[in-house]
Amino acid sequence: MSSNPFRFGRPLDTSRLIGREGERKELVRSVCDRRNLALVAPRGMGKTSLLRAVIEDLRQGDEVYPVYVDVFPAINPRRFAEIYASALTMEPSQSIESMQEAVQQLVPSFLPRVTISGSGRPGLQLDLWDRDRDIQRLMDNLFDAPVQVAEDRGRRVLVIFDDFEDLLSVAEDSLLVKLSQAVRKQRTVSYLFVLRRESTAKRVFSEARSPFYRLSEPVVLDPVPDQAMVLGLESRFREAGRDVEVDLLFRIVEWADRSCHYVQMLAHAFYEEIRDGRAADESALRAALAHVLEAGAYGFKSTWDQLSPHQRNLVLAVAQGHRERLHSQRMVFQLGLGSPSTVSKNLKSLAEREILQKREDQIHFVDPFFGAWLQRRMT
Ligand SMILES: Nc1ncnc2c1ncn2[C@@H]1O[C@H](COP(=O)(O)OP(=O)(O)OP(=O)(O)O)[C@@H](O)[C@H]1O
Ligand SMILES: [Mg+2]
Repeated sequence: MSSNPFRFGRPLDTSRLIGREGERKELVRSVCDRRNLALVAPRGMGKTSLLRAVIEDLRQGDEVYPVYVDVFPAINPRRFAEIYASALTMEPSQSIESMQEAVQQLVPSFLPRVTISGSGRPGLQLDLWDRDRDIQRLMDNLFDAPVQVAEDRGRRVLVIFDDFEDLLSVAEDSLLVKLSQAVRKQRTVSYLFVLRRESTAKRVFSEARSPFYRLSEPVVLDPVPDQAMVLGLESRFREAGRDVEVDLLFRIVEWADRSCHYVQMLAHAFYEEIRDGRAADESALRAALAHVLEAGAYGFKSTWDQLSPHQRNLVLAVAQGHRERLHSQRMVFQLGLGSPSTVSKNLKSLAEREILQKREDQIHFVDPFFGAWLQRRMT
């Protein structure tokens, strides 16, 4: 029996990407043009998966040397320093010895420790010496290190900070100022910041009092166009031995509200429904959706529990399909949303909490299945 061809919960391998050819070329071109960029899209829209493909392309060429920094585990500045130092010195294709040498040259305050990954491959982990107390100086050296990497490699360097928002929430101002100064002055290094919220991108790169003011151009990553997504799903189902009608595939894309992660999640559940020979029809798709909603129910309930009464009415309105003009007097009155200013405040706070998002001037759920679950529970 074939294995389920749909994956979610971790970035996709480049060979499994659907669509994204245009964005991939455009990003490679922009970074080769020496531009700093901020890639912005909500959770699960496929930012990291796309960047993996971009990194592969850059590695094939000889113009730009990519350094990928996953900021997510950086729960404090010290850990961030270790992660950043590792990203600058580790290269999977190199031997342990040459990586150790790179550590000594580039970031000598870090102590390399040999690790063995789950798949049995040796690697290095960098730890900060506890007795090295001068964290400020250490950060200066660390933020200068990419210039040295560019020199050593004889090419420009692109530093990608994925989930940059996570650093903004743990770093002190002084660290961010130092980083921004490095970004501003380095001529041989470009930076790509990955963010989930447009509001954060605006605050960081467009407000004059932010140290990153005008340091990067925001690029919003849109959903994969429906047609391309459907063609991609069709061929994945076919490879796994099932032909699925195009209408049903469009339905998957629509129910998952075009968000890559949720499209894969529903397609995965649908494949599970039909893998034993059940007809690939609407009733199987509804059963798949029911499973997805059931699996998410605990989380949906706890999100709901944390909302104020006006916020509850607001998310219910969006779940019922009201995506625009939620501030109008009529809507506010009919739907019990408080007042126009309460609506603004709540939209902002629910976007901050990654419950709602704005897409092309319309309000959407970040997790479309939360909306579907609400509709079922409330009617
Ligand atoms: N181009 C694509 N085609 C099909 N599925 C995709 C594509 N890009 C991403 N996905 C699906 O979406 C999921 C999330 O992708 P990814 O981790 O790249 O998103 P992200 O925007 O980086 O999310 P986060 O903000 O949570 O880090 C993947 O596990 C995969 O299932
Ligand atoms: Mg990501």
